[in-house]
Amino acid sequence: MADPRPIILDCDPGIDDFIAILMILASPQHFNLLGITVTSGNVPVEYTAHNALRACELAGRNDVPVYQGAPKPLLREHQYDPAVYGESGLKGADLPVPMRPIENIHAVDFLIEAILSSSHKVTLLATAPLTNIALAIVREPSILKNIEEIVVMGGAMTLGNITPAAEYNFFADPEAAHILFTSGAKIKSIGLEVTHHVVTSLPWFDELDKINNPVSQTLVAMLREFYEYDMKNFELSGGAIHDPCVVAYLLEPELFKGHDVYVEIDTSFSDTRGRSTIDWWGKHGFEPNAYVFNKVDVNGFFKLLTNLLRQFSEVQP
Ligand code: RIB
Ligand code: CA
Repeated sequence: MADPRPIILDCDPGIDDFIAILMILASPQHFNLLGITVTSGNVPVEYTAHNALRACELAGRNDVPVYQGAPKPLLREHQYDPAVYGESGLKGADLPVPMRPIENIHAVDFLIEAILSSSHKVTLLATAPLTNIALAIVREPSILKNIEEIVVMGGAMTLGNITPAAEYNFFADPEAAHILFTSGAKIKSIGLEVTHHVVTSLPWFDELDKINNPVSQTLVAMLREFYEYDMKNFELSGGAIHDPCVVAYLLEPELFKGHDVYVEIDTSFSDTRGRSTIDWWGKHGFEPNAYVFNKVDVNGFFKLLTNLLRQFSEVQP
């Protein structure tokens, strides 16, 4: 097997980011996780930092460094949305205050240093507003040469989830998303067309209940709390698990399908702020700047996630 690929996860946990962290930690043969960087998301950056630390602690991986980054977007006021995952960001979980602090280095400094000093190109997983990564690119554009690819959860071809036009991560910091999509980096993007199919179900919760380890027990408690939110708001049949799709793609790319397209991010101060216009049929004739996914093997995704959760140690009777 090839050496584990060096990765950095830039996230804003949040229940689904939390699951993405655990999927990475369950796959040490595939990923060399250099660090986790966080930004503000549905809840403030101090909370997302604590939640990233909690995920590592739950998995027994207090060796993974967590770096706190931008508290707000490049230009705009930050839009919190605690109704989604609760005031703490991890509604339904009963987890202690983290034992260790975050690292004493800013997330943007870490991104630059870790990418430039890596002997192999680094893959970035981006599951939050893109502020930290955009700041790193603007401050030190030479990092682009040592980035393998950036796999992003964000965008929507049709309806958004924070406004009718935009998905949350791109809406929160459209200028940062614009910087990424115009940077020349190899970008792969998984939006709501995919993630709104990856939804939880009661039979899957029953399957998780049988796994009986602290990780699966914590996840199922949170996901049961979140079960009805997307049903009420988006007519889905359960809770959408957005960010784990990024990790699943890197582990089993054959689960996802899409194609090369030109993507433009709306940076206006109007109702369409943060919209991703995805030129699926190549009508503009512009060079593609991203690979955008529109299909996922949902059963394959849940099989993978369930198996990963089995990797953690069982609770002793
Ligand atoms: O729109 C989905 C995104 O916003 C995900 O990254 C999720 O964590 C939420 O914050
Ligand atoms: Ca997220």
